[in-house]
Amino acid sequence: MANTTLTHLKAMKQRGEKIAMLTCYDATFAHTASHAGVDILLIGDSLGMTIQGLENTIPVRLDDMIYHTACVNRGNSGRFIIGDLSFMTYASLEQALESSARLMQAGAHMVKMEGGEWLCEAIMHLTRNGIPVCAHIGLTPQSVNVFGGFKIQGRGEKQAAELIETARKLEIAGAAILVVECVPASLGKAITEAVSVPVIGIGAGADTDGQVLVLHDMLGLSITGRTPKFVKNFMEGASSIQDGIVRYVSAVKDGSFPSSKYSYE
Ligand code: KIV
Repeated sequence: MANTTLTHLKAMKQRGEKIAMLTCYDATFAHTASHAGVDILLIGDSLGMTIQGLENTIPVRLDDMIYHTACVNRGNSGRFIIGDLSFMTYASLEQALESSARLMQAGAHMVKMEGGEWLCEAIMHLTRNGIPVCAHIGLTPQSVNVFGGFKIQGRGEKQAAELIETARKLEIAGAAILVVECVPASLGKAITEAVSVPVIGIGAGADTDGQVLVLHDMLGLSITGRTPKFVKNFMEGASSIQDGIVRYVSAVKDGSFPSSKYSYE
């Protein structure tokens, strides 16, 4: 199997081939997921909850992200790696460049940052310096205190139109992938049609170019026992963890995940 590159991912969007992305935090799971057919391994700052047992992602440090990115890189077998920039590590252009450089040197092929239009300058600055950027919009967990909780975004015509406009601006600034979290399925579809870069959804319906889930969620593992509506436990009926991940990948690829049961309207 050829290595997955950004060119490959863009071609997948053009061909209408779904992209399977999964969070990953260590070498063993990187090995398993990359051999199970996952296209993109995301070292998400969700590791704050899944690995560190925190309430949210705000206390996660850049050093944690770098450590886990290096672990994933060692176990990876040719899949595209995206590393999250953690809270307050891209608040200025200089800081964004310095933090991103460290993630890339740990093995990321792209960095991900959460926010809206205000990311445009940083995206331009990073891409000018040879660092590809994924912009994460919709429900952006690092802003949980601004949103007043983990709430569905883009409900209502005005909010939906604003989010579509934000996606367009981020693409123009140079974002090469968009992650869209927790929006109505119709808005996930509209954003995907509005931009030419791959759009990966989580709780954004079936019509995005790809899907991402948190590894522990899709394995049915949770400390809190609270599971968001968009999470499916792929271990149900699976014979092994590898098989559970294979089932996730094939459900994303054949479009059967997410069904309306796992989407918002
Ligand atoms: O941190 C993370 O795992 C993420 C995904 C939920 C998209 O950003």
